[in-house]
Amino acid sequence: MRVVILPTPADAARHVTELIAGQLRENPRSVLGLATGGTMEPVYEGLIARHRAGLSFAEVTIFNLDEYVGLGPEHPQSYSHYMRERLFAHVDIAEASCFVPSGRGVPAAAARAYEAEIARRGPVDLQLLGLGENGHIGFNEPGSSLGSRTREKLLSHDTVEANRRFFGPGEAVPETAVTMGIATICEARSIVVLATGARKASAVRAMVEGPVTAMCPASILQMHPRVRVVIDAEAAADLA
Ligand code: F6R
Repeated sequence: MRVVILPTPADAARHVTELIAGQLRENPRSVLGLATGGTMEPVYEGLIARHRAGLSFAEVTIFNLDEYVGLGPEHPQSYSHYMRERLFAHVDIAEASCFVPSGRGVPAAAARAYEAEIARRGPVDLQLLGLGENGHIGFNEPGSSLGSRTREKLLSHDTVEANRRFFGPGEAVPETAVTMGIATICEARSIVVLATGARKASAVRAMVEGPVTAMCPASILQMHPRVRVVIDAEAAADLA
C-alpha cells in the first residue's frame, strides 16, 4: 500500500483526478471502476475540467460500485442519477459504456448480470474507492465475506441513518444495495482509495495499520499489490 498524505481535501481530490487522467492518457481504452459519495464530487468536477481541456472518455468503459435496491435511474438519490449528473452527462463517454448495477428487478439477477458484464469487458484497470466511517468499501459492510462477489447486501443501521438526510421526510430509505463484492473489487489491476476529513481517521487507521479482518472490509486492500491510499492531513491523524 502506498499512502499519500496531502494537506487538504482539495489537494487529495486533485491528486486522484490526476491519477485517473494519467491512466486515461496512458490507455485511452481504460476500464475504470468508480464510486459515488460526497468525497468523490471534487474528483468528478476535476475530470470534467480535464475533459474541457481535451481529455477524452470516448473509448473508456466505467463500472460503478453499487446501487440502492428499489431505486431506478430516474430517482434523484440513485447512484445511476448521481453519476449521470456529476460525470457521464458532461464528458464524451458513450452511454453504452457506462455501467451501474440495476436497482430494479430481482437483485440476485442484477448482481449476476453485473458480474458477467465485468467479466466480459474487464478487468478494471483502475478502481476508485471511497471509505465508509465503518471501514466499508462499496457497500461491503463490516462482516462481509472477503471472498464476496457482486450481490445484494443489507446496509448497516449506521449507513441507513447516515443516508436518511438525502431523502425527503417520510420517504423510505433503502435498506439494501447491490454492490460489487470484495473479491470483485480486488480483481482490479490497481486501486486508488480517497478518504478525507477527521470522520474517516479511525477507518483509515484500521485500513492501513489494522489486522486484515472482515470487520474492516477495507483492510483486505493490504493484500493487493497496487493500492494507493490518498488522504488529507485530518484523515491521516490517527496513523502511527
Ligand atoms: C459509494 C460507495 C461508498 C462510499 C463511502 C464514502 O459508491 O461505494 O463506499 O464511497 O460510503 O462515502 P462519502 O464519500 O459520502 O463519505
